Amino acid sequence: MLVSAKEMLTKAKAGKYAVGQFNINNLEWTKSILLTAQELQSPVILGVSEGAGKYMCGYKTIVGMVNGMIEELGITVPVALHLDHGSFEGAKKCIEAGFSSVMFDGSHYPIEENVEKTTELVKLCGEKGISLEAEVGAIGGEEDGVIGKGECADPNECKAIADLGVTMLAAGIGNIHGKYPDNWEGLSFETLDAIQKLTGDMPLVLHGGTGIPADMIKKAISLGVAKINVNTECQLAFADATRKYIEAGKDLQGKGFDPRKLLAPGAEAIKATVKEKMELFGSVGKA
Ligand code: 13P
Repeated sequence: MLVSAKEMLTKAKAGKYAVGQFNINNLEWTKSILLTAQELQSPVILGVSEGAGKYMCGYKTIVGMVNGMIEELGITVPVALHLDHGSFEGAKKCIEAGFSSVMFDGSHYPIEENVEKTTELVKLCGEKGISLEAEVGAIGGEEDGVIGKGECADPNECKAIADLGVTMLAAGIGNIHGKYPDNWEGLSFETLDAIQKLTGDMPLVLHGGTGIPADMIKKAISLGVAKINVNTECQLAFADATRKYIEAGKDLQGKGFDPRKLLAPGAEAIKATVKEKMELFGSVGKA
């Protein structure tokens, strides 16, 4: 059964570890992530961007697939199905479709409008027991074709949004989606520290988990980050393993054309990436 992310993130923040959000794009990715979480006895969050939602035939299809897998694969660890960087309308659709968690990314609105829309979603999510992630300060890089520059959120604006009753808060601290450029200045721990001081027990979310050095991840967790999003790293691992399989000519030998065989190396590569991240984030054995 899908669960809200509230309990797993409250425990993570108190226990000084983070739960990974891994974005899904198809059946193989979803299966790999769920099996790894079960094997490592780790709670997990499956992230779905609006673009991936369209690709996978809509939110209802995804809810059906994930619920079916949880049952058929015998997954007993806590699993949240979460809309990643949702629009206001997208968040409402996911709430209706049976997601157990949604993010409303109102960071590009003026703060008053972000507050107004987030307030409405706090009410809707509260009625259904769904967790809600809000964002302050744009996360840099590309997300579904929208390119943003890494920003540092205003800690007072973070407090204003946190006080609305959201479950978790994503705040820009110089993080970027996708690969970090060579001249990246690193995370702003000063900003993170100031945000945590003002928001208290609120679990903080670190987007752009791909390519952040392990020591920075650990420091971010020590300063209140309880959820870390990873997408690009799984994509790279999947693509690289598939490319190697094709280059080795295995797909040209009769049964190698079988999509189940063609996609298997990529699925294994995702499992390895998820395992590495869960170990780094400290969520292993925390289910
Ligand atoms: P990366 O693609 O950089 O891992 O970021 C993922 C993310 O933050 C999704 O919201």
